[in-house]
Amino acid sequence: MKKAQEALLEWYEIHGRHELPWRLTDNLYHVYLSEIMLQQTQVNRVRDEYYPQFLKKFPSLKVLANAHQDKVLAAWSGLGYYSRARNLHKTAKLSLGGLPKTPKELMDLPGIGEYTASAVCSFGLGQNVPVVDTNIARVIKRHFALLSPKIKTIWTQAEVFVNAKEPRSHNLALMDLGSLVCLPKNPKCEECPLLSSCLGKSEPEIYTQTKKTVYENMELFLGVCIKDNKIALETSTHKMYKDMLVLPSVEPIEEDFIASFKHSYTKYRLVVKLYKSEEVSKGTKWLDIEEMSAAPISSLTKKAQKFFI
Ligand code: ADE
Repeated sequence: MKKAQEALLEWYEIHGRHELPWRLTDNLYHVYLSEIMLQQTQVNRVRDEYYPQFLKKFPSLKVLANAHQDKVLAAWSGLGYYSRARNLHKTAKLSLGGLPKTPKELMDLPGIGEYTASAVCSFGLGQNVPVVDTNIARVIKRHFALLSPKIKTIWTQAEVFVNAKEPRSHNLALMDLGSLVCLPKNPKCEECPLLSSCLGKSEPEIYTQTKKTVYENMELFLGVCIKDNKIALETSTHKMYKDMLVLPSVEPIEEDFIASFKHSYTKYRLVVKLYKSEEVSKGTKWLDIEEMSAAPISSLTKKAQKFFI
């Protein structure tokens, strides 16, 4: 075990992604924010756009807690899974004295599960705790030849494997190994520092059952109502877009058809059809079209915007 731990750290020293900004800070809020953003979003998009822009607007937990939710959702605009932004904001409000420093207490906060709590304690505080995300789980399953284990078993094995002297680098190394070498398909075993101790190397692909996403096709009919260069939007109550500003749903009338476009969001493959509309409901918010870029709107609404400006 000790040899494998050392080989892993040596590999990380040379090949690890040390330059990622959230690995260069010990600010717990920054680490926490990065983990929330990285949950469903590619590293490059977080690193180059959303993480620096968000921190510019909300440089501390206190600034975030005092912000209006609309502003937080607007900073999340285009990133998807907007409950992450709402939970981030709620957590900031609940943590005015600073984020707690144990996985157990962190998990009592909205939107923080076992992975995020451990990641914050390991990457932000250097605590000796295991961390298991999808990439690390694959490495652990293969290295210890765990066929279809329960998630609890993977965490226990990760806990046994964690290097008590260098827990932070150990966990980051496992994460990078999983995303750069121990790939789901065609893993690069010849490059792996754990090859000699890996119990799963003869059949690495039996440890990955990739769940196929079952897509749902849907048509959406949305109304475009513009008056005095302002567009009519509604505050969504739908779970996926809760509190975001969205175009209202309408009954499709063929003569009013403007345009149609495709959009994928989570498991949905959408065909969005836009219609000219005069319908204005009670809760309508009139938004200056030029102001839309600073509003809490989704990528779908941003795409639709192209057809009416
Ligand atoms: N470094 C620390 N946490 C990370 C994550 N979730 N994804 C990629 N790199 C990371």
